[in-house]
Amino acid sequence: MRPPKPLARPGKVSLWRYLRLFRQDLLSAQPQRLYRAWMAEFRTPFFRSYLINQPALIRTVMKERPDAFPKSGRISEGLHPLLGQSVFLTNGDSWKRQRRIIDPAFEGGRLKDSFPAMVAAAQACVDRLEAHVGQTLECEEITSHAAADVIFRTLFSVPIEHEVAAQVFDKFRIYQREQPLLNLAAFVRLPHWVPRFHSRGTRETARQIRELIGHLTTERARAIKAGTAPDDLATKIMTTPDPETGQCFDTQEMVDQVAIFFLAGHETSASALAWALYLMALYPEWQDRLAAEARALDVPDFAVMSQLKLSRDVFREALRLYPPVPMMVRETICPERFRDRDIPQGAQIVVSPWHLHRHNRMWDQPDDFDPSRWSTENGKTCQREAFIPFSTGPRVCPGAGFAMVEGPLILSMLLRRYRFEVIEGGTPVPVAHLTVRSKDGIWLRLVER
Ligand code: HEM
Repeated sequence: MRPPKPLARPGKVSLWRYLRLFRQDLLSAQPQRLYRAWMAEFRTPFFRSYLINQPALIRTVMKERPDAFPKSGRISEGLHPLLGQSVFLTNGDSWKRQRRIIDPAFEGGRLKDSFPAMVAAAQACVDRLEAHVGQTLECEEITSHAAADVIFRTLFSVPIEHEVAAQVFDKFRIYQREQPLLNLAAFVRLPHWVPRFHSRGTRETARQIRELIGHLTTERARAIKAGTAPDDLATKIMTTPDPETGQCFDTQEMVDQVAIFFLAGHETSASALAWALYLMALYPEWQDRLAAEARALDVPDFAVMSQLKLSRDVFREALRLYPPVPMMVRETICPERFRDRDIPQGAQIVVSPWHLHRHNRMWDQPDDFDPSRWSTENGKTCQREAFIPFSTGPRVCPGAGFAMVEGPLILSMLLRRYRFEVIEGGTPVPVAHLTVRSKDGIWLRLVER
């Protein structure tokens, strides 16, 4: 049995039909040929965009010459009111400076420090579900709550129940609902003269979120000065000077960064976890194996992570089949030549984990759920060449290591206690919102194990 794919895969569609489909449901619009192509070109009267699936091309764009392919500003435009000048949106020197300050907070060694907070958030999630045994639940809601809790606990040492944290979480949900489907701009870049608006509601919600985050960072700046700040990610980031200039983030810059940590850190993990739970419900034999493995969590210290191997393999397989960030878009700053084709300056280059992870010419049985593939030769090669859920190169997700602890940990802690079961007619349909989500949520029955 295969996990659900997008609704349909039209073989050949006109660009305009494609764009119409795109508006309804990004993923069902994907023509079959894009899962075989090394490169595909889309032309419009205003610009060209190129989907690249060939590992060597992806290396060129993301790893070897990233400065020649900056992030396309149009794509993330909708996020500006919320994220300001955060590391997710900047390019060039200001982006480099921000990464020099942020990266040390996520270095391998620091993960161990975040681990107790992750366990506490996972346990709180397990406890919250207690009252719902026997019920059918919407899992994206559950995993969003848990992942937001992880971010608040690791960043600011407060649980999601904290008054400000709870308000930020609520406002983010409103903000997300107000957002249009992301990535549409990847193929539909509007000409410069078309004005763009953020709705008043979106701008107002963004302002409120930033104000709330502003309280947290101002309070933290005060505690750092007083020498009473806890040793968490916020303190680490706010006290790390740029090794080149010796300057730390000021409070305003920190608000931009906290906004992206919260957004990038909880939306993505929540999406992957919800799909992982669905896959576990669909493949109960794997669910039982994970539950047995999770007994190691009787002693939940950091060392236990090395024993949650199956859980990591399952989480990785969920990231492959349902990459939370389905596409990333870059722009050419000068003419390029790819696969004997001239690529003009200003073209959009689309790097798509969604297509790459299911690419017919690289993966064995690309649409099958098979967590054991990661120990096969094909799986190992593809993990190196064709698996980029966290992107790749200098702009790789700084939270990748964090997410690969958090995800398997929460998954294992949930399965150790509960069983998740599919419900009749509850097959989720993947669509691209801010991340890959299910069109009508992921509904599963919760049963005591
Ligand atoms: C399963 C979980 C996650 C996935 C799949 C994921 C994926 C990604 C991807 C694909 C990008 C690159 C986007 C682009 O270039 O357009 C990215 C960037 C980023 N992620 Fe994550 N992420 C996850 C979790 C996290 C966590 C837990 C944090 C922080 C706590 C985080 C923080 C960031 C930041 C700050 C960036 C911007 C980096 C830059 O542009 O230099 N992410 N993430």
